[in-house]
Amino acid sequence: MAEKLIIFDTTLRDGEQSPGASMTKDEKLRIARQLERLKVDVIEAGFAASSNGDFEAVQAIANAIKDSTICSLSRANDRDISRAAEALKGANRARIHTFIATSPLHMEKKLRMTPEQVLEQAKLAVRFARNQAADVEFSPEDGYRSEIDFLCRVLEAVIKEGATTLNIPDTVGYAVPELYGNFIKTLREKIPNSDKAIWSVHCHNDLGMAVANSLAGVKIGGARQVECTINGLGERAGNCSLEEIVMAVKTRRDYFGLDVGVDTSQIVPASRMVSQTTGFVVQPNKAVVGANAFAHASGIHQDGVLKARDTYEIMRAEDVGWSANKIVLGKLSGRNAFKQRLNDLGIEMDSETEINAAFARFKELADRKSEIFDEDILALVSDESVTSEKEQYGFVSLAQHSETGERPHASVVFSVEGREVHGQSDGNGPVDASLKAIESHVKSGAEMILYSVNAISGSTESQGEVTVRLQHSGRVVNGVGADPDIVVASAKAYLSALNKLHSKADRVAAQG
Ligand code: KIV
Ligand code: ZN
Repeated sequence: MAEKLIIFDTTLRDGEQSPGASMTKDEKLRIARQLERLKVDVIEAGFAASSNGDFEAVQAIANAIKDSTICSLSRANDRDISRAAEALKGANRARIHTFIATSPLHMEKKLRMTPEQVLEQAKLAVRFARNQAADVEFSPEDGYRSEIDFLCRVLEAVIKEGATTLNIPDTVGYAVPELYGNFIKTLREKIPNSDKAIWSVHCHNDLGMAVANSLAGVKIGGARQVECTINGLGERAGNCSLEEIVMAVKTRRDYFGLDVGVDTSQIVPASRMVSQTTGFVVQPNKAVVGANAFAHASGIHQDGVLKARDTYEIMRAEDVGWSANKIVLGKLSGRNAFKQRLNDLGIEMDSETEINAAFARFKELADRKSEIFDEDILALVSDESVTSEKEQYGFVSLAQHSETGERPHASVVFSVEGREVHGQSDGNGPVDASLKAIESHVKSGAEMILYSVNAISGSTESQGEVTVRLQHSGRVVNGVGADPDIVVASAKAYLSALNKLHSKADRVAAQG
């Protein structure tokens, strides 16, 4: 039997730190369920001490997920660690992940601590965490830019205190593969008790090398855990992408000689769910999960693939969960079929009332669109502008007029705390007019920094999925809206972003 490579998914923690990618508790729970179906070994569910919202999300995930280990990040102090332990109480298998920066730059400028103080705090934190959990991971933040002898002292000490996993972050994405691989190898060779812990890699993608660096950490360095995110989601250029690392190790098993427990057929559904929930669209040429990843446009390639698939294909599309868009439901589908499909997609609703409301929206969509795909259902349930009565703003209806040579005009009805209001405006185009109509009432003063439209299931018959990214007082939020009418989808996305701006609670920034 080959050794196992542990897949540690941090979409819900490091991925969520990407500006605008913050998710609600229900969204996180839905993604955690998909990660469990994907069979990832560890789910880093959040940073429990950073906010009440994060605490509740970690707690809900710990209570609901039974097959994967559930982990919470915590800084190296007793309060953070206790919060993590508290949130993880319901987990079948819990892990506390504690970290402190060890690079000269971070210690001096950010922490304003001496190396000896950092060493002491790391030891105390791991000791404290081990009293609360058997499974404790330690990360020296900015580890790759740390002085190796100091790092060896810290890591040796935390292993003595009982750390079971040592994770070496390349926090700023500065590493290159050979050097990073050798860095891990040297640490393992120099530290006398290094065999008492599992070594892990955590790479950021600032120079586009996160996957390559992680693979080098595994192959050269002997790491047996990779930290990664779906679609490579994460701050700045993102983290190491789960789908790429998993498929590299699986496809090149001849070279890596390791097993991964992931059910690869769940990769594309996971990718879609994360992209639809966060509004971070996947680029078409993205490896494994991009729309073009298995599309053979050139005649030579098409001909080759038809004659013998492996002429141009090293992986099979169906093995990573690509299936021709399957019509899953239609106008005649009943409530039971709809409920079953929600179940299959891992969507749990709190009450029959919620299911009834979602079913009513499904019927309304099915009246306008004959074929309903899984993506439509996901969009339908994640459409916050219409799904939650708790939200500040909700979409009601829209009318717009546009004609060649005339300035478009829109009139939008939406609710503010349950009360219907009416906004009107003209604009450069119908979308511009509609959003200005909303803004004429709301006067949020937010700056729009991104607007994008995407056809959910590929054709003009599909729903348009719109992402709107707003910035206000240094905060960035993404709103997503879907509808067969892209002007309506845009209004929903705008209202969803306003809801997030309105509700986003302050949270402690997790470094890295
Ligand atoms: O990149 C990083 O350093 C991190 C740590 C907090 C693990 O995400
Ligand atoms: Zn990180």
